[in-house]
Amino acid sequence: MLEAIFRTPPLTALGVLLLLSSLLNLCSGDVGDFSPCLNYFHRAWPLKGLQGTPICQRFDNRYHFATLYSRDRRTPLFSAYIYNPPQGKRPKGNWKYEPQLANSKADGNMVPFPIPPAKVDQNVVESQAVQEDYINSSYTRGHLNPSQHHTDPTDRYATFTLTNVVPQKAGSNDGPWAKLESSVSQRLQAYCLGEAHVVTGIIPYEKDRWLKDKGRVAIPEYLWSAYCCQNFSQNLPKSLIDTFPSYAAIGRNDPNSTEEIVPVNPKRKKAFLGYDVRPMPLPTLETYLKQRYGTPISVFYEQCSGS
Ligand SMILES: *[C@@H]1O[C@H](CO)[C@@H](O)[C@H](O)[C@H]1NC(C)=O
Ligand SMILES: *[C@@H]1O[C@H](CO)[C@@H](O)[C@H](O)[C@H]1NC(C)=O
Ligand SMILES: *[C@@H]1O[C@H](CO)[C@@H](O)[C@H](O)[C@H]1NC(C)=O
Repeated sequence: MLEAIFRTPPLTALGVLLLLSSLLNLCSGDVGDFSPCLNYFHRAWPLKGLQGTPICQRFDNRYHFATLYSRDRRTPLFSAYIYNPPQGKRPKGNWKYEPQLANSKADGNMVPFPIPPAKVDQNVVESQAVQEDYINSSYTRGHLNPSQHHTDPTDRYATFTLTNVVPQKAGSNDGPWAKLESSVSQRLQAYCLGEAHVVTGIIPYEKDRWLKDKGRVAIPEYLWSAYCCQNFSQNLPKSLIDTFPSYAAIGRNDPNSTEEIVPVNPKRKKAFLGYDVRPMPLPTLETYLKQRYGTPISVFYEQCSGS
């Protein structure tokens, strides 16, 4: 954009405004721009087709992953990261928020919520989800980028930001979705030889539903996840031939949803009944995303084909 402005003599008022706003963006750096964290996307090519606020997720002055945040839903639309094998126990959640969503002068590092009775600033409450939104809601805080897909303790710790979290039923979060996360983890450890880029996102209801009917934090009807690993073992077991270089899945977050996208296994344990996850090829996922979002969506560059 800068280039375009400099090529246009004379500098119009609009041009000056655009220039100023892009300079401001450069200064705050972390909101509105994926350029400092393109490495979390396969071929440095962020998912195409969704509108939102890009967040380069920063903690301890380092980037850890990338999120496209919806200010209207006060949830992420997706998080993108590089998979690394987990080590040690799951860290304890110390939930964080992102001051830069409320104040563009903030340095872009996420910070822990204050310990009650201390309260977070009202501007923060307006700009994003806070702890109170989830309390008594019957939904858990479901990570899109899970801490268990990382080796580095700081990478893991950084996943505990509410901008990486959506309202997820415990039946999904502790059941089939957890199983998906661990089977992907085992498979990538065993057969992915290079980098595995993962993108995990949500599919909204056709008509939005909100935590505690407050119109603040929107509930997703489904979660989806996909990975791209182009350098993989040539000795894949037959059963896994279709899971490289790319793989995708959609998981139910509502037992009452119809079964067109993800059928229900009626024999599942009661706690997990209706929270099934359906594996599928990447193009099938993109078809469902297009249907619900009403616009073409490309998760990976050239659908993770070729090299
Ligand atoms: C949660 O529910 C309890 C018991 O009904 C109530 O005392 C508490 O104020 C509620 N907290 C929030 C944040 O809604
Ligand atoms: C794939 O990964 C292996 C193991 O890390 C490495 O030796 C090889 O060079 C990689 N191949 C490509 C094409 O990147
Ligand atoms: C599913 O429907 C039942 C019965 O109408 C209702 O009690 C329950 O809250 C619904 N579940 C969700 C997640 O909306």
